[in-house]
Amino acid sequence: MSSERRVAEGRIAWTRRHMPVLVETIAEFTAEKPFEGMTVGFRLHLEPKTAVLIEALLAGGAEVIAMGNEGTTQFGTAEVLSSQGCKVLDRQGQGPEATAAHLSRIASAGPDLVLDNGAELIGACLDSASPPVGATEETTSGGFRLREDYTGQVGFPVIVINDSPLKSIVENKHGVGESVVDTIVRVTNMSLHKKRVVVYGYGWCGRGIALYAHRRGADVTVVEIDPIKALEAAMDGFEVAEHSVAPARAEVVITATGRPGVVDYTAIEQMPDGVLLANAGHVDTEIDIRRLEHQAPGAELSPSLKRHELPNGKSAFCIAEGRIVNLAAHGGIGNPIEAMDLGLTLQARSLAALVDPSYDLSPGPQPVPDTVNTRIATAMLHSMGQLGRSAT
Ligand SMILES: NC(=O)c1ccc[n+]([C@@H]2O[C@H](COP(=O)([O-])OP(=O)(O)OC[C@H]3O[C@@H](n4cnc5c(N)ncnc54)[C@H](O)[C@@H]3O)[C@@H](O)[C@H]2O)c1
Repeated sequence: MSSERRVAEGRIAWTRRHMPVLVETIAEFTAEKPFEGMTVGFRLHLEPKTAVLIEALLAGGAEVIAMGNEGTTQFGTAEVLSSQGCKVLDRQGQGPEATAAHLSRIASAGPDLVLDNGAELIGACLDSASPPVGATEETTSGGFRLREDYTGQVGFPVIVINDSPLKSIVENKHGVGESVVDTIVRVTNMSLHKKRVVVYGYGWCGRGIALYAHRRGADVTVVEIDPIKALEAAMDGFEVAEHSVAPARAEVVITATGRPGVVDYTAIEQMPDGVLLANAGHVDTEIDIRRLEHQAPGAELSPSLKRHELPNGKSAFCIAEGRIVNLAAHGGIGNPIEAMDLGLTLQARSLAALVDPSYDLSPGPQPVPDTVNTRIATAMLHSMGQLGRSAT
């Protein structure tokens, strides 16, 4: 057994201990086998928390073919999953070209169910001779793609997990907020006290990032194009500024919009010398790192931190080349386990709802059924000892 696998087994065991809601689901799936005889095509970061989700699918009788998102697969975890019977396609040292090959390999296996993170696997299955009976999509960005790029093309139900109010509160706001801010502090070894932090986007992730940066003592400014959310940021106590002025004061810039080209090279040029750039969104083009690299190639300071000397004489520092910081940064372990316990149970129970005829779901993107949300919220409250407690 490789040392990577031994370490991963320990981490998965630790993770499972802190996922009581998903563990309860595993027990139920073991007894009821909702996925017996089915194949699940799985595309999500492969790490200890998602390994427990895959355990739930295997316990429910599924065969699982899995790939991670680019650069986020932990190979010790992949080894453990393979030993449990999951077919993992990712290999150490594979290049970006492997993504297309793996997507098409899963699509051509004709999975009965698809679990996706970015809607690329769903896209690859759209023209399949045997399309899936249903799919789940994890992210905001994948939800955009389903509604904007694949309009009218999805002939099977796709439950967009991100649209669950539960996921928004527990995972996107608190989980992402806490882990993005912790990752930035860990990678840089820098305190945020009185640092001027500019957060782009005051959606669920942006709200959490602003909150946790504030809790760490930062002076937070929010840039948000939706005036209602911008007002919410102001009411929450943050300064709100336009994109045309905010970069000029920034010491730390964190993007969380899910949209490309939000911080372009011109904006980076206007930022103070020494600005630190990080992206929390799913797409790695929110900050225009390609143009930055072209104008000012980065010098590596540590595995996840680069310094760019701009032609105008200023320096800019960037974490994880603008990729999703809490996962792609060296040692990135993503959201806290408890947040993912909820988020990944939403995935498991939504996949079960797709094959449960009593739900009678219509084709196309749609939210998590209410009964699934309320059941998981109640289970999580119980797991925190918050319901059924005596008032004394
Ligand atoms: N880091 C993680 O672990 C993690 C976890 C979940 C989601 N995400 C990703 O984070 C991103 C944001 O997710 P969310 O749930 O907060 O989405 P959301 O839709 O709730 O919020 C996005 C916000 O960005 C704003 N926005 C869009 N373009 C903008 C611009 N040019 N300038 C300023 N604001 C702009 C929108 O008005 C919206 O309020 C997505 O890419 C999502 O996939 C990351």
